Amino acid sequence: MRYPEELIEEVRLKNDIVDVIGSYVKLQRKGASYFGLCPFHSEKSPSFSVSPAKQMYYCFGCGAGGNVISFIMNYENFSFQEAVKYLADRAGVKLPEIEYSKEAKEKEAKREKLLEANREAAKYFYYQLRNKPGEEGMKYLKGRGLTDETIDKFGLGFSCMMSNDLVKYLESRGFSDEIIKDAALATFNEKYGMSDLFWNRVMYPIQDINHRVIGFGGRVMSDAKPKYLNSPESMIFDKSRNLYGLNFARTSRKNHFILCEGYMDVIAMHQAGFNEAVASLGTAFTSGQANILRRYTDSVYLAYDSDGAGVKAALRAIGILRDCGMIGKVINLKPYKDPDEFIKNLGAEAFQERIDNAENSFFFEIRQLEDGYNLKDPDDRTKFIKEIGMRLMNFPDEIERENYMAAVCDKYNIGYESLKKLVAANAMKTGAGMEVRPIERPKSGIHSKDPDENTKKVQRLLLTWLSDEPKIYRLIKKYISPEDFTDELYEKVAVKLFEDLEQGIMNPAKIVDMFEDDEEHAKVAAIFNTELVEVTEKTEREKALHDLVFNIKKNSCEAAASKPNQTMEDMMKDIENKKALEQLKKTPFKLDD
Ligand code: GTP
Ligand code: MN
Repeated sequence: MRYPEELIEEVRLKNDIVDVIGSYVKLQRKGASYFGLCPFHSEKSPSFSVSPAKQMYYCFGCGAGGNVISFIMNYENFSFQEAVKYLADRAGVKLPEIEYSKEAKEKEAKREKLLEANREAAKYFYYQLRNKPGEEGMKYLKGRGLTDETIDKFGLGFSCMMSNDLVKYLESRGFSDEIIKDAALATFNEKYGMSDLFWNRVMYPIQDINHRVIGFGGRVMSDAKPKYLNSPESMIFDKSRNLYGLNFARTSRKNHFILCEGYMDVIAMHQAGFNEAVASLGTAFTSGQANILRRYTDSVYLAYDSDGAGVKAALRAIGILRDCGMIGKVINLKPYKDPDEFIKNLGAEAFQERIDNAENSFFFEIRQLEDGYNLKDPDDRTKFIKEIGMRLMNFPDEIERENYMAAVCDKYNIGYESLKKLVAANAMKTGAGMEVRPIERPKSGIHSKDPDENTKKVQRLLLTWLSDEPKIYRLIKKYISPEDFTDELYEKVAVKLFEDLEQGIMNPAKIVDMFEDDEEHAKVAAIFNTELVEVTEKTEREKALHDLVFNIKKNSCEAAASKPNQTMEDMMKDIENKKALEQLKKTPFKLDD
C-alpha cells in the first residue's frame, strides 16, 4: 500500500528536518543552513548540511542527501513506508485506517494471536534454558563457545524432555488448541491429542525484521537425526521472505551482508563482531530474500559451507543475486567447513582477512566449472572456453564485460580477440546477451541519457539557483524547458519544479518524495545542493546566469542533433535551435533588483 501524496506531505511538514536530524546529529547554524558531522561517512570537519528553507539535507563529502523521510530511511535503515510511518508516529499524524473487510479483520486478529503464541513459546523456552530443566542445553551452548550475552541477544531457549509441557503452558495462558496448532507449535492426532513439536532441543527463535518471533529452529544436542527441526511455514512464517539475523544485521551500518547457511554460523559471526551476517531458513536462498536484502545494500558476501553441497548452494545463490542486480562475492573458508568453525579456530581477524579477499563471484563460478574439464586436453579446453564465452554474455554492460574478458584471458591464457569474436558470435546466434538483453537493474530505475558529468553539473547549477532564487524563473523559462535536461532523473525533477514555479510554489523536499529509492533521493538532493559561487555584483550575476542558460541550451541542442535516425522534422528543428541559440547568445540577461 502506498500512502496518499497529501498525507506524505503532511507527515513531512510536521517533521521539521532541522528538529529531526538535530536529534541525531549535532548541528550548528552557518548562514542559511546548518552543518554537522555526516552520520553516513566518517569525517573530521563538517560537510553535512541541512537546509531549513529547502527542508533537505546534503553531504558535500559523500553525496548522501534527501528530505526528512530519506534521512530516516538511511539512518534507521527503513523502507520508504516504514520511514513515513515512523515520522507519522513522531508527529502524531494518524495514518489512515484502511477499510478492512470482515474477513481481512479476522485474518489480522488471527495473525496477532499466532504471533502472541510464538512470543509466549519463546518466553517459555527462554525460561527453561536458564533454569534446571535446561541445564543440559545451557551446557551444550556454552560448550559451543557462546557467551551469556550472545545467548540472550538471540533469545535462545530450550524445549525439555517432558512431553507436552509447552501445550499445557500455552493452554494455561488461554491459547486455544487451534491457535497452538496453527502456530505450528504442536501437532494434533486423533488418538493422542495435542503433542509438542519440539522436545529436548536447544531452541533458536526466528525473528522478523521487527524482532517478532515467527518460528523456531530446534537442534538436538547429540548426533541424533534429524539434527534440526524447523517450524513449518504458517500464516506468519514465510521462509522465502525472512532471513535469520536480519533483525540485527539490517542496522549493522556495513555496506554489505554476509549470507550463510546455518543459524549457528550467524550467531558465531555476530558474536565475533560481524553483525552483518544473515542466513536463509533451512531452505535454499530465494529471490524474495534477495529482494529484501537489496533494500539495504546490493553487495552480499557468501559464507557457505566449503563442501560440495555448500558450493552448489553458493552457485545457486550467486545466480539469484545476479538476477536481482546484486553483486555477490565468495568468502573462502578452507580448511574449515563453515564460518562458525573458522572463527572458532582462526579468530575474527583472520575471518576479516577472508572477507577482504573474497572472490569475485564470476571467477568463483568459472573456477568451479574448471573442475569438470581437463584443460590439458584440447577438446575439453575448447568446450571450457566456449562455456566461458556463453557466461560472459550475462554482462550487459560493455565495459564490465570487456574487463571480465580481459581478466579471463589473462588467467586462462586465451587470446583476447578470439574470445571477443566468440562472444559476439554467441550474441548473434542466440539473440541474447550484450546490448540485446540488458539485465534490469531495478535499484535505480533511472539510466542517464547523457553520462557526461559536466553537462549534468551545469544543469544542477541552474536547478539549485532556481531553488535558492525562484524569481529567476521568469527570465530563464523563455529559453529553457524541462526537456533541455538531458538526464532522465533531472528531466523529471525539472518538470515538477517548473510546474511548481508556474504556480509560485517552491517545495524541493516534496520533489524528493516523487522517488521511493534512497539512491534517487540522494541524486535529487545533489541537484538542489550544488555549490554556487557567491557572486554579489549584479552584472556579473547576470552574466553567470546567461552563461549557464546558454550552456544548457547548447548541450541540449547538440544532443538533439546527434540523435540517430534524424527525420526531416528533426533537421528543421535543428536549424531552428541553432537560430534560437544565436539569438540567446546576443541577448544579455537583466535581473530585477
Ligand atoms: P551446527 O551443526 O549446529 O553447527 O548447525 P549449522 O547452523 O552449522 O547448520 P548446518 O550448516 O548443518 O545446516 C544449515 C541449516 O540447514 C541449519 O541451520 C538448518 O536450518 C538446516 N538444517 C540442517 N540440518 C537439518 C535437518 O536435519 N533438518 C532440517 N529440516 N533442516 C536442517
Ligand atoms: Mn555448523
